[in-house]
Amino acid sequence: MSDIKKIKDNFILKLKENLDLNQVNQIKTDLFGKTGLISSQFKMMGKVPEEERKKFASNLNLVKDELQNLITAKIDDIETKEINQKLEKEKIDITLPERPFVQGKIHPVSQVIDEISSIFSEIGFSVEEGPDVENEYNNFTALNTPDNHPARDMHDTFYLDDKKELLLRTHTSPVQIRTMLNDKPPFKIIAPGRTYRSDSDQTHTPMFHQVEGLHIDKDINMGHLKGCLNYFIKEFFEVNKIKMRFRPSHFPFTEPSAEVDIGYEIKDGKIVIGEGDKWLEVLGCGMVHPNVLKNVKVNPDEFQGYAFGIGIDRLAMLKYGINDLRAFFDCDYRWLNHFGFDPVDVPSNYRGLSR
Ligand code: PHE
Repeated sequence: MSDIKKIKDNFILKLKENLDLNQVNQIKTDLFGKTGLISSQFKMMGKVPEEERKKFASNLNLVKDELQNLITAKIDDIETKEINQKLEKEKIDITLPERPFVQGKIHPVSQVIDEISSIFSEIGFSVEEGPDVENEYNNFTALNTPDNHPARDMHDTFYLDDKKELLLRTHTSPVQIRTMLNDKPPFKIIAPGRTYRSDSDQTHTPMFHQVEGLHIDKDINMGHLKGCLNYFIKEFFEVNKIKMRFRPSHFPFTEPSAEVDIGYEIKDGKIVIGEGDKWLEVLGCGMVHPNVLKNVKVNPDEFQGYAFGIGIDRLAMLKYGINDLRAFFDCDYRWLNHFGFDPVDVPSNYRGLSR
C-alpha cells in the first residue's frame, strides 16, 4: 500500500472518532502543517520518477482535497453540536403571562350628552358645536348682556387677555349666536359642550357642561317651549309623568325668562324624579330677546323662538345617583369603573347616537 493511501485510510478513521475542536486542529496540522504528512508528500514530488509523477500528483491532490473536506465537515459538525448544546443550556423562557383584559368605560357625562342628543334629535333638533375659547361679543354683547352685568366680572369669568376680549365661554349660549350668524332661520339646534366659570365647591366646578337649545321659527311661543322641555325631561328620566314648574327669572338674552324646577321625593334613601313635593332646579330658559335676534340679523317681527340651557352634570348626578360633582373630573379610574358605562351594555333609552 502506498504511503498516500495509508495516510488517507488512517486519517479517515481518525476523523470518524469523537473529537473536539482542538483535536481536529491537531489533525489539520499533522496533515497540512509545514512538516505535515501531506505537505511532506508534496515535497517528495521531485523524487518521484518522471513517468509516475503525474499520477502521483493527481492522486495526492485528490487525497488532499478529500481530507480537507472531511476536516471542514468535521469542524462544522463540532461547531453545530456546540451551539446546540449551548442553546439547550441557555434556553430562555420567552412566554409571558397574558395581560389582564381591561375594558374602557364611557364617562357619565359623555353618556348623558349622547342620551340628550338622541332624545332631542327625535323631535327634529340637530347638534351644533362651538369653541371653548370665545370672544366677548358672542359670549356677552350679542346676547344682550350689558356691560355692568355681574357675569362679566373677573370673579366669574376666565378672561384670556387683558383687554377682556377673549374668554373661556361661560355658557353654551354663544353657539346660538354663531349658528344664527352663519345661517338663515328657521333654527332648531342643541349645542352640548364644556363651559367655564370661576367657581369651585361641592356642587360647582370651574369647568362644567351645558346643553343649549334654540328653536326659532314663525309663530313659536312659550307653549312650544313647555312642551319641548316636558317631553325631554320625561324621556331623559324615563318616567310617564313629570311635575315641572316655571319660575319667573331673568336672563339678558330671553324675555320672558324662567328657571325650571322638577318635582322629586326621596324614597328608601333614593331620589325619585317626577313625584313628591320637593323641587330641584334643572335649567334656565325663555323666549329669545328681540335684541338678540336683531344682533344676528333675524327680523323679530317675523321670527320668534325659545332657548334653554341645561346643566348636563347636574342631570347626570340626578339620573345616576352620583353625589359629588368634583369626582366627575378627578380622573380616578376606580370612580369611572364604578359609575362609567359599558360601551356594549347601554341603558334602554340610549339610541346609539354618538357626538
Ligand atoms: N345661558 C344660561 C346660563 O348659563 C342658560 C340659558 C340658556 C337661559 C338659554 C336661557 C336661555 O345660565
